[in-house]
Amino acid sequence: MKNPDLLEEIYQFLPCSTPALWVEQALENLDILLIDHAQCEKKAASTAMNLMYRYVDKPDLLKKMSQLAREELLHFEQVVTILEERGIRYEHLTAARYASGLRQHIRKGADELIDVLIIGAFIEARSCERFMALIPHLDEALGKYYQSLVRSEGRHYRDYLDLAQQYASAPIDERIAFFAEVEKELIESDDDTFRFHSGPVVIKQDLKQDQAQPA
Ligand SMILES: [Fe+2]
Ligand SMILES: [Fe+2]
Repeated sequence: MKNPDLLEEIYQFLPCSTPALWVEQALENLDILLIDHAQCEKKAASTAMNLMYRYVDKPDLLKKMSQLAREELLHFEQVVTILEERGIRYEHLTAARYASGLRQHIRKGADELIDVLIIGAFIEARSCERFMALIPHLDEALGKYYQSLVRSEGRHYRDYLDLAQQYASAPIDERIAFFAEVEKELIESDDDTFRFHSGPVVIKQDLKQDQAQPA
């Protein structure tokens, strides 16, 4: 990353780092990671476009979200190419609990936009942090590609945060602190499905099956 200050800012912004167990599981489930990564890029573009439909009276938001949507779609195409090159079949995956776990706290009314933008900043920041956690363990081609994504997702984090500050009528520090706590729980607590933004997975079901089997 050319801008180490931005990466430092992202580490400060996030409430915790990715658990080592998640990194281990990502390396064991690289196919799922890449498919879900493609999904995330597509979803990021569509979230940005939804904001463009909804807030037509905010030119700064329209321009930043339009640029962001284009970049996310380009990332989507790049990840689809990586899937093709690696012979990984793009299948539908269920969504992680992460985004919905954050979005369930969105307030209604005038504060809704601010919350959506803060959540956008968290998602982009976490993506950067996860790319950085993965890079040392990846093959050269994927490592280089993820390094290039850190730059753009870092910029997206900054855009979301700047827009949230710009359109808020009061300081947003408390709201950021609230979402930081929610985010930390989603990243650190046991999850039941491995995804790009999941917590570490503890396979309780298999354990139960093992116990149910006669010795
Ligand atoms: Fe992206
Ligand atoms: Fe992004």
